[in-house]
Amino acid sequence: MKSLSEFALAIQPSSTMAIDAMFKQMKAEGQDVIGFGAGEPDFPTPDHIKEAGIQAIQNNDTRYTPSVGTVELRKAICQRLKADCGLDYDFKEIAVSNGAKTCVYVALRALVNPGDEVILPAPYWVSYIELIRMVGGVPVVIDTTEAEQFKITPEKLSAAITPKTKCMILNNPCNPTGMMYSRKELEAIAKVCVDNDLYVLSDEIYYSLTYDNEQFTSLAALGEDIKARTLLINGVSKSYAMTGWRIGYIAAPANITKVVGNYLGHCTGSPSAISQKAALAALTAPQDQVETMRQAFEERRDYMVRRMNQIEGISCIKPEGAFYVMMNVEKVVGKELFGQVIHSDDDFASLFLKYGKVAVVPGGGFGAPNFIRWSYAASMDNIKAGLDRLEMFLQGKAV
Ligand SMILES: Cc1ncc(COP(=O)(O)O)c(C=O)c1O
Repeated sequence: MKSLSEFALAIQPSSTMAIDAMFKQMKAEGQDVIGFGAGEPDFPTPDHIKEAGIQAIQNNDTRYTPSVGTVELRKAICQRLKADCGLDYDFKEIAVSNGAKTCVYVALRALVNPGDEVILPAPYWVSYIELIRMVGGVPVVIDTTEAEQFKITPEKLSAAITPKTKCMILNNPCNPTGMMYSRKELEAIAKVCVDNDLYVLSDEIYYSLTYDNEQFTSLAALGEDIKARTLLINGVSKSYAMTGWRIGYIAAPANITKVVGNYLGHCTGSPSAISQKAALAALTAPQDQVETMRQAFEERRDYMVRRMNQIEGISCIKPEGAFYVMMNVEKVVGKELFGQVIHSDDDFASLFLKYGKVAVVPGGGFGAPNFIRWSYAASMDNIKAGLDRLEMFLQGKAV
């Protein structure tokens, strides 16, 4: 038989899958394991949003919609972007699709020719690097350190640019680091992008989950020059606990959303009509439940960061947004625990699951070796128990 597509065969499975499979197997066996791998809020979708979805079914809003979403939803997105980020978009500059993940893919499709370079700061969300490869692009990774707060500088960005660079991906606040760029830092990055004629995919899906009263700045709000080359990615998954509804969007100049619409028209048809009605309710209703969830995340972050920095051998910096903490395990690597030498973050995560009964995500898949990602989209009780288990594990005591 003829071989499968080279593009398809080159796609790597998610690096988190091995731990996740082990975690699920242990759970199925009835073992008392706690998971901190989740990339989604643990809250249910708020009732008024669920109700809008139910109403959509009962009102027979169950047909195809325009490939880039309904006009009413795109107008509501414009209003929310204006209210929350001070952005002015026309509904024709909005393309809605099946989650921000599809939006990142189709945005890259709209920009990237085979062989074009796409700059990606590390640590990065695992899917970006595969999505770049899936469109024939070449990822150019810029490493950052914990001492740099995992943020790129304009100097590092300039040094990574070549004549083949088409765009960069900026994730702010960032999964997995939780770090957020200040307005000043963004201005410096935006200047390099404008000066070098680069597009920017600005993934701002965690924008409503920021802490310590820090002000979030959207890249496109910095001026017309940068807005003209920004493909803003956002969605309802994280802000409204709607991961399963699959609604995300791109805000970009109309010539780009037109190309995106043509592409989507042939491959997705349209986003779910029912989910679009639910997303409309999420975006237009009072936003107090977003704030309630944000406050709960902030409380959990504070607890997790405080505890981690009290435990001998590991540490973390304080994330400013999203719901992840990057734990530094550099000092544990090379040491022996439970009769085994820990050579890497992968080893740490496997042993911690086996003996500590806690599932966390090794940093290697995010381009962050020697780090472990904890999600605090988990109950406070589980967070407390998970950190107690971490303390025991590092003392060589099994659960
Ligand atoms: C940085 C980032 N972008 C995009 C997504 C995808 O979101 P969606 O559920 O809208 O596809 C995620 C989900 O984990 C994410 O962490």
